[in-house]
Amino acid sequence: MSHLGSPFTLKGLTLRNRIVMSPMCQYSVDAEDGKPNDWHFVHYTSRAIGGTGLIIIEMTDVEPDGRISNRDLGLWSDEHVPAFRRVIDEIHKYGAKAAIQVAHAGRKALDAEVPVGPWNEPFEANAKKPRALSTEEVWQLVAKFADAARRAVEAGVDTIELHGAHGYLIHQFHSPLINKRDDEFGRDYAKFGVEVIRAVKKVLPPDMPLMMRISAVEYAEGGYDLDHSIKLCQAYRDAGVDLFDVSSGGEGGPAGPRKPGNFPGYQVPFARAIREATGVPVMAVGMLDDPRLAESVVGNGDADLVAIGRAMLRNPYWAVDALRLLDGKANVVKAYERGY
Ligand SMILES: Cc1cc2nc3c(=O)[nH]c(=O)nc-3n(C[C@H](O)[C@H](O)[C@H](O)COP(=O)(O)O)c2cc1C
Repeated sequence: MSHLGSPFTLKGLTLRNRIVMSPMCQYSVDAEDGKPNDWHFVHYTSRAIGGTGLIIIEMTDVEPDGRISNRDLGLWSDEHVPAFRRVIDEIHKYGAKAAIQVAHAGRKALDAEVPVGPWNEPFEANAKKPRALSTEEVWQLVAKFADAARRAVEAGVDTIELHGAHGYLIHQFHSPLINKRDDEFGRDYAKFGVEVIRAVKKVLPPDMPLMMRISAVEYAEGGYDLDHSIKLCQAYRDAGVDLFDVSSGGEGGPAGPRKPGNFPGYQVPFARAIREATGVPVMAVGMLDDPRLAESVVGNGDADLVAIGRAMLRNPYWAVDALRLLDGKANVVKAYERGY
């Protein structure tokens, strides 16, 4: 059996293979209420039927103005739980596991009248000027992350991913380029993330792993480097993160020399470095569409899991096709067996 096709266990979670659907906003909520609809039901269920091991439901925000746009998902009230449960129950029917990416867009909340963030500088010249959160409001947001995580658990997730990457709120706090506060959340760049992790862990069942997506480096001139993100990951690991999903960039501003080229596997070296420095399992992501490349990432020990994004938008059966190529047989639902 291929490495990609082998099961993976982390605490109480066992995946049937190492293939993860990367979180991808669908910008498809019609009623601006943040609840998954029939689009999400079909979209995520299709990838479960398509053989994926773990499906990470797109960036789902802890308050309405924490969304990138008003067409994004949210978990800011108990009323949201049944709509998520409907999607997750269906994902489970086809042998896949489900996660929700819990997030806040911070200064990148495009539809918020006044976005909030650790500091009052916009992420690009013509973006809305954010308002710097008071210390008390930061603590309130920590609690909102925990409330959203509790609701995700009620909706039936097998794990949760915190979005600490791509220039969204947690990333904004741990970036020296963005966070210029002089309170406890500015003096310690990891503090906001650590407090969110601790609060979220309290509402997770003890055997449920917690994942976190992180930008390993910033691209902007003067942005943080891998040494900085490794220190963050060590603090986040000590606070309770069980797996890092390693991405990069997204903080805004023109890209400088640290931006990797657009080549297959461009973020894999970051994943390996964070795995080695923290001793925590990692997920690699970014242009891993070729199943042989994805297989080598797991086989060479660069990462434990491989997340596939855009290739799964093109092909819901990416996982079935990849494992068929690598292992010579297709594991499909009974209804589709004659197709192979
Ligand atoms: C349409 C779209 C929406 C995305 N939304 C999210 C998101 O909600 N959360 C996130 O962490 N990354 C998001 N991403 C980034 C992907 O998860 C992934 O990291 C990126 O596309 C690189 O992987 P790929 O080369 O396999 O596509 C999005 C990407 C796309 C194309």
